[in-house]
Amino acid sequence: MCGIVGYIGTQKASPILINGLIRLEYRGYDSAGISTIEKEGLSIMKDQGRVKNLYSLDGINNLEGTIGIAHTRWATHGKPSKENSHPHLDNSKTFGVVHNGIIENYNELRENLNKKGYTFYSETDTEVIPNLIHYYYTKEAKKDLSGFLQAVKNACSELKGSFALEIICKHYPDNMIVVRKDSPLVIGKGENENYISSDIPAILSFTKNFYLINDLEYCILSRNNAQFYDKDLNPIKKETKSIEWNASSAEKDGFEDYMLKEIYEQPIAIRETVGARLFENSKCTFDELNFTKEYLKNINKIYIVACGTAMHAGLVGKNMIEKLCRIQTEVDVASEFRYRNPLIDEKTLCIFISQSGETADTIAALKLSKEKGAKTLAITNVIGSSITREADYSLYTHAGPEIAVASTKAYTSQVILFATLSIYFAETLEVNNSSIATLKNDILELPKKIEDTLKISENVKDFAKQVYQEKDIFFLGRGIDETVAREGSLKLKEISYIHAESYPAGELKHGPIALIENGITVVGVVTDKDLLEKSVSNIQEVITRGAKTLIITNQNLDDKMFNEVINIPCTNSLLSPILSIIPLQLFSYYIAKEKGLDVDKPRNLAKSVTVE
Ligand code: AGP
Repeated sequence: MCGIVGYIGTQKASPILINGLIRLEYRGYDSAGISTIEKEGLSIMKDQGRVKNLYSLDGINNLEGTIGIAHTRWATHGKPSKENSHPHLDNSKTFGVVHNGIIENYNELRENLNKKGYTFYSETDTEVIPNLIHYYYTKEAKKDLSGFLQAVKNACSELKGSFALEIICKHYPDNMIVVRKDSPLVIGKGENENYISSDIPAILSFTKNFYLINDLEYCILSRNNAQFYDKDLNPIKKETKSIEWNASSAEKDGFEDYMLKEIYEQPIAIRETVGARLFENSKCTFDELNFTKEYLKNINKIYIVACGTAMHAGLVGKNMIEKLCRIQTEVDVASEFRYRNPLIDEKTLCIFISQSGETADTIAALKLSKEKGAKTLAITNVIGSSITREADYSLYTHAGPEIAVASTKAYTSQVILFATLSIYFAETLEVNNSSIATLKNDILELPKKIEDTLKISENVKDFAKQVYQEKDIFFLGRGIDETVAREGSLKLKEISYIHAESYPAGELKHGPIALIENGITVVGVVTDKDLLEKSVSNIQEVITRGAKTLIITNQNLDDKMFNEVINIPCTNSLLSPILSIIPLQLFSYYIAKEKGLDVDKPRNLAKSVTVE
């Protein structure tokens, strides 16, 4: 989705802005642009295409301004084009704006502004914003910084939808105004300079101290200050938060792609996420939670709500919670949950998972659950992200920044967090379950087994070379393996653009088997000992019909039956999704590489889906 960068300081802004945009490229975009305040007024440099194209725009190297705003656009209103790219200026070229989000009532605002004599040069929803600010500024008696702020506030109170905004004005070369609502934005504090960004990794090499802004809080930035205001423009104080991530964790570190690096970071991500929460001989602790036995006993249902890969982690979490704690747990896609009037009340615990913590549907689902009286718990990877500011409780995975659009280490970290959370629930409930001690031990042994799995999984590369030109690939599994099949299939379609489908293996005969023909590729996940024979006989059925098969298993199978078998280490059946997904992550990766695709930035996708 769109990315925002801003700078106010003592250095030339344009290289810093472009550099920041390059670091935001992973979010997905189709055009880019910057605007700085120059002696002659606002400069504007923008175009469709890659950020690096900005370097070839006429005059870009002559920019001297030390304050500027920048944007990568992911088209929503209007096709990708130079005109639709941000920044946008008002008609008088006094105000420059970049915007992340969607203005739902832009048509109405546009018509009103048209009647007042404003003209629009783009098809975007954003262009109404600088013009609205201009409109209010001209009506302001005070033509000073407070008048500028008031005009921004008046404009924002007309906007319906979501927005993160950076606003500059040619009359105020020493200030910038930022505000957000339901869209991410952080401010990084430097020495006599401040940085603005949609997310932390983009400006991590400049600072580790961040101000986190809440919805409808305004900030006037100067070179050495950040003054915050609440929604009614009363001044408020804010402290910076220091972020542990280091700049190199957002670099490729010698790997060809972020995705590959992140796949290989899974042992450390799991270790860090388990951290000090779990030890072999003591109770599992979550200092962030204060759940009592009484509270957990009275829960009528747990809902796990998320999107995409995070939802798949939720499916694994459901299995853990139900098996260990016997609490009924449902998993739902956030975009469905929020519109189907779900049956929740104050006895429901709603858990929301989001790597970015900024996914619009997941946040909306959380807000809805709160309105209905449920307790809300967020699981995210990004400290201070929007979801943590809405939820009653927040738990962090410690996967480090995940840059590749295709989620890998965040998924396995979410799954391991669910394992420890389930143990915490079970121990608080005083569930008499001897398997908990074994599970704890298995969790502690897991990072080493992930390392072993990574080595073995490299064997999938040859099979990837054989099938990378396929049009369709099917994924099968039963029980917990079915959730892994789903995630494997999502990973493949995301980065290789191959049509991939996953099915519970037992469903084959009810329709999908009609699609199996000679030469088709089928991936089977077979780790559940209790369902072994049933899974194998389903796979046998596709082999009989001519399918080529890749099998991920920790069971003793007859390798000769299949085209390729990846034998992963055995672990606790609750944890097996963490190991069995690894060869499938690498399978997708190597297929995409064979096809020569941009693995980290697949087409049409964004890392952080901040609009619904
Ligand atoms: C994962 O590979 C995808 N990029 C996508 O499904 C993602 O998991 C989903 O958009 C949810 O994102 P979140 O975890 O940041 O909320």
